[in-house]
Amino acid sequence: MKIIKVQDNLAGGQAGYQVFADALASGADTFGLATGSTPISIYDAIAASDLDFSQATSVNLDEYVGLAADHDQSYHYFMQKHFFDAKPFAQSFVPAGDAQDISAELTHYDEVIATHPVDLQILGLGQNAHIGFNEPGTSFTSQTHLVDLTPSTIAANARFFADAAEVPTQAITMGISQIMAAKQILMVAYGANKAHAVKAMLEGPVSEDVPASILQQHANVVVILDEAAASLLT
Ligand code: F6R
Repeated sequence: MKIIKVQDNLAGGQAGYQVFADALASGADTFGLATGSTPISIYDAIAASDLDFSQATSVNLDEYVGLAADHDQSYHYFMQKHFFDAKPFAQSFVPAGDAQDISAELTHYDEVIATHPVDLQILGLGQNAHIGFNEPGTSFTSQTHLVDLTPSTIAANARFFADAAEVPTQAITMGISQIMAAKQILMVAYGANKAHAVKAMLEGPVSEDVPASILQQHANVVVILDEAAASLLT
């Protein structure tokens, strides 16, 4: 595992951009992508660069159930705005949160991942060490599955929606075994509120109670941390 400590999110954006650039230069053609606040500075650096993803494939980690791709809180929308508008891929896959048949969509997404093995997977870190929507207790052997969001997540998301009935209560996520199948993983965490999760991920026992701890068993991981996120490491 290679740990890169950076001063702030902006420097992390440059460091993360370099990991993408190196992967592309060495022939990677399938990129596993994440949403959330953490990857934005990396995506901004990529958008401002001359990197070309037009021959590549992207596969996203997760999506809310019930939101159409054009809903401004959907992960489809996020990816369009922060990455695909500037840097289109030859093909991009994000779970279809508005699928009529969610169980068929889970099977379909397993097939997507199996037929497009990820070369580089970027991950953010939950404060409880979740990766994707794989919350503590999720099996390390999990594949694409449906997740019931916790009441606190639902309550936290409510502020982004005009109508309470629209707030998603479920999500589709890639499973932990599929994340671990990526050839290379780029884990990024910033801020003091991630420090406990970072310590548990890197220095704690490998346990399903700490989903990100499984990364200790992956052969090719780059971790980008700012000083606050790294502050509890020994
Ligand atoms: C997003 C995702 C989540 C986030 C994590 C950190 O696609 O899968 O696991 O990476 O919740 O979120 P931020 O970056 O907003 O702190």
